[in-house]
Amino acid sequence: MFDILFVMIFGLSGRVLTKGKLGRFSSPVLDVTEKQLIIERNQTLQLNCRGRWELQWVLPSGVPKVYHGTQIEETRCGKKNNQYCSRLMLSPALAQHTGSYRCRYRQKHRKQASVYVYITDSQRPFVKVQSEIPDVVYMKEGELLVFPCRVTNPDANVSLIKYPFHRIAPDYKNIIWNSRQGFTIRSPTFFYIGLFSCETIVNGVKYSNRFLTHRPVNKILDVYLNSTGLVHTLQGQMLALNCTVTAEWNARVSISWTYPQKANGSATIIRRISRSRTNMLFYSVLTINRLSKADRGLYKCHVTSGPSKRETNTTVIVYDQPFIQLKHRDGPVVQASAGQKSFRLTPKLKAFPAPEVIWLKDGMVAAEQCSRYHVDRFSLVILDVAEEDAGIYTILTGIQQYGLFQNLTLTLVVNVKPQIGEKTVSSRQPGTVQRGSRQALHCTSHGVPPPQIQWLWHRCPPKGLSPARLA
Ligand SMILES: *[C@@H]1O[C@H](CO)[C@@H](O)[C@H](O)[C@H]1NC(C)=O
Ligand SMILES: *[C@@H]1O[C@H](CO)[C@@H](O)[C@H](O)[C@H]1NC(C)=O
Ligand SMILES: *[C@@H]1O[C@H](CO)[C@@H](O)[C@H](O)[C@H]1NC(C)=O
Ligand SMILES: *[C@@H]1O[C@H](CO)[C@@H](O)[C@H](O)[C@H]1NC(C)=O
Ligand SMILES: *[C@@H]1O[C@H](CO)[C@@H](O)[C@H](O)[C@H]1NC(C)=O
Ligand SMILES: *[C@@H]1O[C@H](CO)[C@@H](O)[C@H](O)[C@H]1NC(C)=O
Ligand SMILES: *[C@@H]1O[C@H](CO)[C@@H](O)[C@H](O)[C@H]1NC(C)=O
Repeated sequence: MFDILFVMIFGLSGRVLTKGKLGRFSSPVLDVTEKQLIIERNQTLQLNCRGRWELQWVLPSGVPKVYHGTQIEETRCGKKNNQYCSRLMLSPALAQHTGSYRCRYRQKHRKQASVYVYITDSQRPFVKVQSEIPDVVYMKEGELLVFPCRVTNPDANVSLIKYPFHRIAPDYKNIIWNSRQGFTIRSPTFFYIGLFSCETIVNGVKYSNRFLTHRPVNKILDVYLNSTGLVHTLQGQMLALNCTVTAEWNARVSISWTYPQKANGSATIIRRISRSRTNMLFYSVLTINRLSKADRGLYKCHVTSGPSKRETNTTVIVYDQPFIQLKHRDGPVVQASAGQKSFRLTPKLKAFPAPEVIWLKDGMVAAEQCSRYHVDRFSLVILDVAEEDAGIYTILTGIQQYGLFQNLTLTLVVNVKPQIGEKTVSSRQPGTVQRGSRQALHCTSHGVPPPQIQWLWHRCPPKGLSPARLA
């Protein structure tokens, strides 16, 4: 209780500075306890600050960094000289020096004390003097719009006007007036695009600060590289990549590339702009006339429009020469089963450029032999596999242009489940035969591989017993 009273009494009198224990200086302390000060132009502004460590002043942007009127005196103070004191003097104080004065620890910037000082000047109600050209204020989607017409007198009566004569009164919900900030519009609509001014009348004289609001258009809708993924090319060939950017109407974008030989400037880049009814299209075409091995790697198209950024990339592979590599995937003999919905013959094929592919079955073009055969990319697909599909298949690959050809032969075995012919077992005359006579019993069965046939003999069931029990 005593402690609280102590702080209150001395806190109000401002002498907490001298009486405060060292522990109280976790932040520096100013000798003014008010949140704001109002002085007149030409007066001297004096502020004292005390703290536990070395101090530093941060002055409003209107006070020049080097100003003959600014004086700072630093001393050691406190009973044991273990505190730091700093006195700021600004003389003469001018309207443009209006703003927040902060004293902070040199090493711990966040520990600070501040006071807002208004320096009134009847001839200069706005902190900033308007130049001929209105200031540009940028509007961003979802952000506050601020007309920064700060004033030198907290009681100034300021109006916001939209040209030519629309007066906007603060409602303190969406439109807020603050003498230290100006007018803030919480949710600016299209109404706030245009020319505005903050106006005030002092002694019958009208002063104004004018602003032009601008809504930058930065929306990148799409970035498209005409070949993403891998680009396979040959040494000596030409590479052309087309980066197409779709952006909002009126947007400006810049497109740049990074690529392996950028330092050598091996590429030429051509830019084009076109506009459609709703969008802008920007093209940047990167061309390398004769590719070398060193040109292989990652090609990136970077797009920026104001703060918006996008990029897209592709990897370019440069082969020394054209080639075909053709190998068996699972050996030269492959197996399928009759009745399978589909079966795919796919040898391992790597080639550049893309070869022509022809499949032969038993020396004849496969696709012409049977409608169930078709070539998919370079595989041969057989639908509804049947026994007759077994045979010798050959894939012929060729790159005519470079005189490259490769063949590969595979044998397809079609397995068929064993089946026993319609009339399971036939003897000429079922029923009784003469004892001692020679009888031939025939069993027809089929399968791939050929099934093994085994005969079993069962004793005739004695009369009265069902055959099922013996079977
Ligand atoms: C401030 O000083 C300047 C120059 O000394 C003088 O012209 C001006 O009238 C003074 N302003 C006020 C408000 O005293
Ligand atoms: C602002 O307007 C109010 C009410 O009209 C008036 O009382 C006050 O003096 C004005 N302030 C200034 C600085 O002119
Ligand atoms: C780049 O691609 C776009 C769309 O794919 C096409 O309209 C445009 O003509 C291309 N530019 C060039 C220079 O080929
Ligand atoms: C990409 O666009 C360029 C320029 O329009 C064109 O020369 C090139 O062939 C295109 N590449 C692909 C893979 O379409
Ligand atoms: C590109 O620069 C590298 C390193 O400076 C050099 O070794 C290479 O030969 C250059 N390539 C071309 C195509 O100029
Ligand atoms: C290239 O683009 C792909 C897909 O857009 C992305 O996933 C990948 O991270 C990019 N690679 C690099 C190196 O930027
Ligand atoms: C590939 O097969 C075709 C047709 O059977 C034949 O003319 C050609 O000589 C063969 N080529 C190679 C490289 O084996």
